[in-house]
Amino acid sequence: MSKSVFNHVVLLCRSGFEGECSAEIIDRAAAIGVDGYCKTDKRSGIVVFTPNKPGSALRLIEKIPFSTMIFSRQWFAAIEQVTDLPPKDRVGTLAQAAGRFPRCKDLWLETADTNEANSLSKLCKSLQKPLQIKLKAFGALRASGEYRLHMLFTSGTSAWVGMSLPGNDAPWLGGIPRLRLPKAAPSRSTLKLEEAWHWFLTPDTWGEELKAGSWGVDLGAAPGGWTWQLVQRGLKVMAVDNGPMADDLMLTRQVEHHEADGFLFEPPRAVAWMVCDIADKPARVMHLMSTWFVNRWCRKSVFNLKLPMNKRYQEVCKLLDQLQQNCDQHNIKISWQAKQLYHDREEITVMVRLLD
Ligand SMILES: C[S@@+](CC[C@H](N)C(=O)[O-])C[C@H]1O[C@@H](n2cnc3c(N)ncnc32)[C@H](O)[C@@H]1O
Repeated sequence: MSKSVFNHVVLLCRSGFEGECSAEIIDRAAAIGVDGYCKTDKRSGIVVFTPNKPGSALRLIEKIPFSTMIFSRQWFAAIEQVTDLPPKDRVGTLAQAAGRFPRCKDLWLETADTNEANSLSKLCKSLQKPLQIKLKAFGALRASGEYRLHMLFTSGTSAWVGMSLPGNDAPWLGGIPRLRLPKAAPSRSTLKLEEAWHWFLTPDTWGEELKAGSWGVDLGAAPGGWTWQLVQRGLKVMAVDNGPMADDLMLTRQVEHHEADGFLFEPPRAVAWMVCDIADKPARVMHLMSTWFVNRWCRKSVFNLKLPMNKRYQEVCKLLDQLQQNCDQHNIKISWQAKQLYHDREEITVMVRLLD
């Protein structure tokens, strides 16, 4: 099958953020010379981008680094949606649709992240094995395959079928890393920082990036879910918050509690990490982050950015541009990544690194 049959890019996003996800892919595709349009249903968690020039979908998901996409959790290039799956032979029909794709190394059956779609996950589980067997028989699934085969079920009788390039997609089904809430963590928010690290750090570099014995600052730390993550990795933490920190965390003797305003706090010396979970106006938070990097107070940061009410995608881009410009003006070299995480609601999470 020719790669030119891939006429759509299917993107998964948080339900309610289809507009932002659409604006972003249209923008990013245009930047590499691919114009197109999006179709989406309100709160479906799915956006379908169709390039005006047929057959350019695969090129798109290979050329745009997935790590630079903020509002999309997963993506793949797809053929036309299969809409007439016979309940008695879904396997045969789907295998037929994908049977002549370029070789794929694995098969992912996915749904959007909505209550309705989640009810299809049982169906996905029941189809996984038989589909794998059938596709292997067709020679479409091989360990040496270059691509990843995706089947995204939108109902019991319809699915998007397509491929992504492993390494330039999300390495988790539906773009959601399944994390367990650690019993000892002081708050559920702890999962947000852990998820951020899964997205922003490469798995084998965690030990190097989160070096035991180094210092971190946690702005807006109470009761201590983010501090707990840093402490688990052996870091020492200045936890800045007027609210109380969890007692167990203080007993570790790795935490200094600073009852202070995070917007005024200056670290006594430069630190490896600064994390910030203060829910304030996004422009105010971004200004604070600029101050930290321009002064080289930290080398790396993960912070939350609350989304504005309107033009959320455009505003986020504007704020990230401002951070970059501020740093450029002061000759501070940084790189950044931003993502709306599974654990984010009306916000995104940003990671910034000092490069020199
Ligand atoms: C969402 S909670 C942080 C939760 C924390 N990351 C955790 O995992 O447990 C936000 C915190 O920011 C704190 N906060 C709000 N404004 C602040 C400020 N100006 N300076 C310091 N802390 C602030 C609040 O007291 C609150 O504890």
